[in-house]
Amino acid sequence: MKIRPILAILYLLAVGIGIPCAQAAAEPSITVEADKSAGTVSPLLYGLMTEEINHSYDGGLYAELVRNRAFLDDASAPAHWSVVTADGASATIELDRNEPVNAALPVSLRLGAASASDASPAGIANEGYWGIPAFSKTRYNASFYAKAAPGFSGKIVVSIQSEDGKTIYAKSEVKGVGQTWTQYHVSLKTGKLAAPVKARYVLAVDRPGTVWFSLVSLFPPTWKDRPNGLRKDLMQMLVDMKPRFLRFPGGNYMEGDTIETRFDWRKTIGPVSERAGKMGPWKYRSSDGMGLMEFLLWCEDMGTEPVLGLYAGYSLKEPAVKLGAELAPFVQEALDEIEYVSGPVTTQWGAQRAKDGHPKPFKLRYVEIGNEDFFDRSGSYDGRFAQFYDAIKTKHPELQCISSIGVSDHPVKGLLSSRTPDLMDIHFYRSTDEFLKKITEFDTRFDRKGPKVMIGEWAAHEDGRIKPWSKEALGQPPTPSMKAAIGDAACMAAMERNSDIIAMHCYAPLFANVNPGAWQWRPNLIGYDALRAYGSPSYYAFVMFSGNLGDQILPLTKTDFPVQVSATRDNPTGEIFLKLVNPQAGEQPVKIELRGLASVAPEATAITLAANPEDTNSVEEPTKVVPKRSLVSGIKPEFSYLIPANAIVVLKLKAR
Ligand code: AHR
Repeated sequence: MKIRPILAILYLLAVGIGIPCAQAAAEPSITVEADKSAGTVSPLLYGLMTEEINHSYDGGLYAELVRNRAFLDDASAPAHWSVVTADGASATIELDRNEPVNAALPVSLRLGAASASDASPAGIANEGYWGIPAFSKTRYNASFYAKAAPGFSGKIVVSIQSEDGKTIYAKSEVKGVGQTWTQYHVSLKTGKLAAPVKARYVLAVDRPGTVWFSLVSLFPPTWKDRPNGLRKDLMQMLVDMKPRFLRFPGGNYMEGDTIETRFDWRKTIGPVSERAGKMGPWKYRSSDGMGLMEFLLWCEDMGTEPVLGLYAGYSLKEPAVKLGAELAPFVQEALDEIEYVSGPVTTQWGAQRAKDGHPKPFKLRYVEIGNEDFFDRSGSYDGRFAQFYDAIKTKHPELQCISSIGVSDHPVKGLLSSRTPDLMDIHFYRSTDEFLKKITEFDTRFDRKGPKVMIGEWAAHEDGRIKPWSKEALGQPPTPSMKAAIGDAACMAAMERNSDIIAMHCYAPLFANVNPGAWQWRPNLIGYDALRAYGSPSYYAFVMFSGNLGDQILPLTKTDFPVQVSATRDNPTGEIFLKLVNPQAGEQPVKIELRGLASVAPEATAITLAANPEDTNSVEEPTKVVPKRSLVSGIKPEFSYLIPANAIVVLKLKAR
């Protein structure tokens, strides 16, 4: 009893004169066991996830510039098209169901020109996806189906012109349009432009008459010059992310709202004139210009491999298909899809792939059965998974089957017990604060004796009260700020630390067309409009992590302070990557010990992404928050380092 006041006085004295005492916090330190291993870094750890959301393909990666090219977006009007008439010309346009090109193109656009001439043409104009981009000195490939009513002997003038029609940036023409549907191809070349500009695309006649149009298409140069190809600036950004896999085609987009509108891969292959498209679950139509072959070529052109999502009998707004005979055709559809992707040309679907231009089978090692099947409240996934798994493993024992729900410890009910998947796909959409609070969960949660984990969708958002899918989210910018990037980096550090069990991960969604009304979800990694593209701070965090990965997880310990850490080593080069994530408003001094190293190069490279939490990038300010490289000297096996405030740092250290 008597001793207490004495202890209190001693404590106050100790604090007052600065003597370290038991209650004082330990000096922040990180100890890396640089000569030990906590496991192998999964070589597939960093990948991409993609689906048709936020105009990711139509109006995004898919380089087609004409919106509603097949006139199917709106049954009542030619949406995104208008009639254009020069002074003295007059014309009308109308959807016409009596003049189809084929079953996939059942509607055409009829242009009726009452008066038109060379000097005063009349035509149809497309506004593109929030503008047609006119780039300087650029060649465009245009094509369209057309036919004329008897008596029309004029030409069709094709042009890219300013939105007011006063400036023509590029022009070409087609003569001799006959009375049967014919596809015409023309090339258009722009002159020198001071800067890219939003334009419109016009097809006009030079004399009175009636002309029908269908599948009106315009492509700028594409990545690797592929016909029906992909936007170059976005592809470059993806290649810079060094993705090891591409998870496609969704997401909700793979499932569709209904069975009818699922990603039915068979309807997405072959000539685009045979692809009718469909309504997607994100409230707009998909042209299906991005079909299965385009996804596979996308993988090939990025030097990455597919993680193929298979439709598994569950669509978002319909009861799941019943097990057994009713599900069997969908299992067959999946087996056929696998054959199309990877079967030899001697098989039915391998031969079809060859006919579609790619005789060589694509590499395929991973398939995912369904997507987020915990939403199927009937609980049928266990049985559906088993039916798919058995059929796939029988025919393709080489394939790894991923389940779309967890087998144990999953937050959502509906655990899988019928079969043990090779991997399980678990999704994490969390606020930065939630990620930081629960981050140790990644270190403890997954059973290392169980299946490996794919975190097939994840992203940090800034405000925990505003969920990515909520209406409120639409009032925020489409891409995340530095605050979210901090949460993302903490998540990636945790996934790296545990990449012996977390084999793959991919941020979602990847893309957003940032025009008002174009996107349905936030945050998204990459934003763009018709002319420009930019990476969010989270994009740069991803590039920093993915580009500096290594192959061995190094064990580490740290004192209790808020910085998140991952340490890996790249054995071929001897480089050690130390990732540091400081979520605090102040700088953080830290003592770093690299144990077990004979010596370390005295200079290291630091790649630093640091900004105010609310700072972000946008089409107007694409590089406000970007990583900076610097040299750090004085590196020893034990050294001090000052981590900047609100920062993500990759320290590249060289063991000697
Ligand atoms: O990434 C957006 C959506 O989130 C995906 O389509 C779905 O799988 C998830 O719910």
